[in-house]
Amino acid sequence: MRIAVFAGDGIGPEVTEQAVRVLEKLGLPGLELVEGDVGGMAYRKHGHPLPQATLDIARGADAILFGAVGDFSCDNLERHLRPEQAILGLRKELGLFANLRPARVFPGLEHLTTLRREVAETIDLLIVRELNGDVYFGEKGIRTLPDGRRQGWDMMSYAEDEVRRIARAGFDAAMTRGRRLCSVDKANVLETSQLWRDVVIEVSAEYPEVELSHMYVDNAAMQLVKNPGQFDVIVTGNLFGDILSDQASMCVGSIGLLASASLAEGSFGLYEPIHGSAPDIAGKGLANPMATILSAAMLLRHSLGMEAEAARIEAAVARALADGINGGDLGGSAGTREIGDAVVERL
Ligand code: NAD
Ligand code: IPM
Ligand code: MN
Repeated sequence: MRIAVFAGDGIGPEVTEQAVRVLEKLGLPGLELVEGDVGGMAYRKHGHPLPQATLDIARGADAILFGAVGDFSCDNLERHLRPEQAILGLRKELGLFANLRPARVFPGLEHLTTLRREVAETIDLLIVRELNGDVYFGEKGIRTLPDGRRQGWDMMSYAEDEVRRIARAGFDAAMTRGRRLCSVDKANVLETSQLWRDVVIEVSAEYPEVELSHMYVDNAAMQLVKNPGQFDVIVTGNLFGDILSDQASMCVGSIGLLASASLAEGSFGLYEPIHGSAPDIAGKGLANPMATILSAAMLLRHSLGMEAEAARIEAAVARALADGINGGDLGGSAGTREIGDAVVERL
């Protein structure tokens, strides 16, 4: 079992360290961790945010544990050299098209979310976000119009096979949960979304047990705050899924709690918190590592078939939260290491 560990920038190394401690504490026989450079730190060391050596490590591994990338001092580099290209490049190069972002409120945290307790405690949803297409990977540029004005442009598109495979991922996920799938789009305005909706409806014929609904993304953003308990599985495109998942994280308490799995066909996957490198708190030992620890649990479940060990980690995190171990993001005072200690102790 070889896990590639790409810690990255900002709080990435801080939160990844705690997730690795948790994995090591499990004492899994034959577990091998291989580190690689990604993001701004990789650019500074090797001149590229996703060096070939890192891609080779990724390809030789069973799964990837990823911290975060992003460094404001790199924001003026040409786009292909920016830290974010590391995660975008890994997703594309490795065919990691299905991004699972579960959000449920942890018992004992209901009073800490920004929603009313009775609203927050209903949340148990899964966002299935497409990760290889959409406006993220279309042609883009800044050009000068004939009249001299500058124009920025980004091409949004989805091919039907791309929609079909993420729709199936959404339906498959719904089959393992509450059998309700809500497809989120903007079909009232965007042709990309019209095709999305048509194809999701076609695929629904394969899943007669799943109740399919459709919602425009603006309404979905509102409903996530008004009545998040209505959602079981949400399937949506790359951009909408990015935005809605940050929003869902606050509905359950903090962005420091939301884990994710980015899956290819088969068992290979990349696992990362949904948050970024958090430059405002980096290097201070303040970051909440729970999202990364929970991502490590998803790694064990989805890529290594170790359900029992995954559940053990999740139970330890839930226990630590119930015992009041909260980082600053949840209004508490526990630091990164202390939270890691609390989870390790409870394993
Ligand atoms: P961010 O997620 O890094 O931070 C947003 C806010 O949430 C900040 O106030 C931060 O302190 C807080 N926060 C995030 N994670 C936290 C944690 N674990 N514990 C406590 N607080 C936490 O988003 P941003 O500020 O918009 O972006 C910063 C950089 O990260 C940018 O360069 C961006 O491109 C990058 N980014 C990378 C990823 C990724 O690697 N997958 C994801 C999102 C953003
Ligand atoms: C995420 C991030 C990335 C995204 C950025 C860093 C490219 O926001 O993983 O949610 O937009 O997908
Ligand atoms: Mn994001």
